[in-house]
Amino acid sequence: MARPIIADIDLDALCHNYAVARRIAPRSHAMAVIKANAYGHGAVACAKALAAVAPAFAVASLEEAESLRESGILQPILLLEGIFDTDELARVEALGLWQVVHSDWQLNAVLNYSPARPLTVWLKLDSGMHRLGFDSASFADRWAKLQAAGDRVRDLHLISHFASADQADPSQFERQWQTIESVRQQLEAPLCIANSPATLAKPRTHGHWNRPGIMLYGSNPLEGALPDGMSLKPVMTLRSRLIAVQTLPMGEPVGYGGRWHTSRPARIGIVAAGYGDGYDRHAADGTPLLVDGQRCPLVGRVSMDMLTVDISHLPDAGVGSEVVLWGRGLGVDEVARHCDTIGYTLLTGLLPRVPRRYLVP
Ligand SMILES: Cc1ncc(COP(=O)(O)O)c(C=O)c1O
Repeated sequence: MARPIIADIDLDALCHNYAVARRIAPRSHAMAVIKANAYGHGAVACAKALAAVAPAFAVASLEEAESLRESGILQPILLLEGIFDTDELARVEALGLWQVVHSDWQLNAVLNYSPARPLTVWLKLDSGMHRLGFDSASFADRWAKLQAAGDRVRDLHLISHFASADQADPSQFERQWQTIESVRQQLEAPLCIANSPATLAKPRTHGHWNRPGIMLYGSNPLEGALPDGMSLKPVMTLRSRLIAVQTLPMGEPVGYGGRWHTSRPARIGIVAAGYGDGYDRHAADGTPLLVDGQRCPLVGRVSMDMLTVDISHLPDAGVGSEVVLWGRGLGVDEVARHCDTIGYTLLTGLLPRVPRRYLVP
C-alpha cells in the first residue's frame, strides 16, 4: 500500500463557493484567484472546474498563466503583479493576458510596445497598503497616459488591494476606501477592488469586478464569523491514516524534544503526515484532528513524515484508522489558529508529494 496521505479536492464545493461569491455581489463579475496553484488545490483542475462559470482568472506570474493556457483555459487571465521583465510583454500579448501595471517601468514598457491588438491594463492604486501601485497624487497622470495610448491599450480598470478588510477594526479599511473613492470619482474608473473579505463583508466595495481567492476554497478570511445565512464548503480535505499505535505508561515523552509527556497511561496514534507534507510544524499540543471521525488532540512535535495524536479515548481506533487533518468536519481555519497562522498558509503550503484526488461533481 502507498503512503496513505492524500488531499481530496471537492470541485463541487469549489463551484458552490464561487456561486456564493457571485450571489453576494450580483452586479459584479467575479475573477477567480487561482494563483499559487489555486492556493494549493491545483490550478488547472480548479480552472477547468470553474471554466463554465468564471469569466476570468487571476494569477501571480506569466508562468502560472502559461500553464493554464497549455491546459486549454481560454478565459482572460490577469497577472496580478504584471510583468517582471519587459521581455514578457510579447508572451502577454500572444496569450491574450491581462496585466496589472503598478510601476513606471511597467507603464513605459507598455507605452513603448506596439501590440497587434490592444493590451488590457489594470492600473494599480496604492490606496494605503503600501505594497504595490501609484499613490493617489500620481495615479491620475498615469491613467491619462494610458488613456492617451490610443489603440495600444483598452479596458482600463482601477485595481487596488485592501490590507485589512478582514479585521473587526475598520479604521485602515475606511482610510483606504476613501482614497479609492476619491480617485474613482475623479476618473470615473471601473473598479476591481474586493478580495474575499471585502466580497463577503464590505458590499460597498463591490466593483465592476471582484477578486475572491481564499473564500473559493472554503476558508473564512474574516476575523469574525461569516455573515448570517452564508456558508462556504471546504474544498480540500487532507486525509491520512494511523500507521502505528504506542501504549505508554504515565510520564513518557512523545516525539522530538520530548515536548509532551503522558500525564496518565495513554494510547498514542502515529499518523503518516508531517511538515514534509506541509502540515505546520508549529502545531501546538491540542491541535485537533479527526480519528475515525472523532476529535483527538495532537500531542508532541510534528516530525517531517509523522505526527502523534492522543487516541486514549478511542479504544477501537488502531492501525489503519482514518485521520482527517483538515477539511470536511474540521475547518482549516481552526487548525490554523492552533498553528498561530492562517488558513491561507496551510492550504498553499501543501507540498507536491501529497497526491491530490479530484472529486468531480
Ligand atoms: C492582489 C490580490 N488580489 C486578490 C487576492 C485574493 O485575496 P483573498 O484570497 O483574500 O480573497 C490576493 C491574495 O493574496 C491578492 O494578492
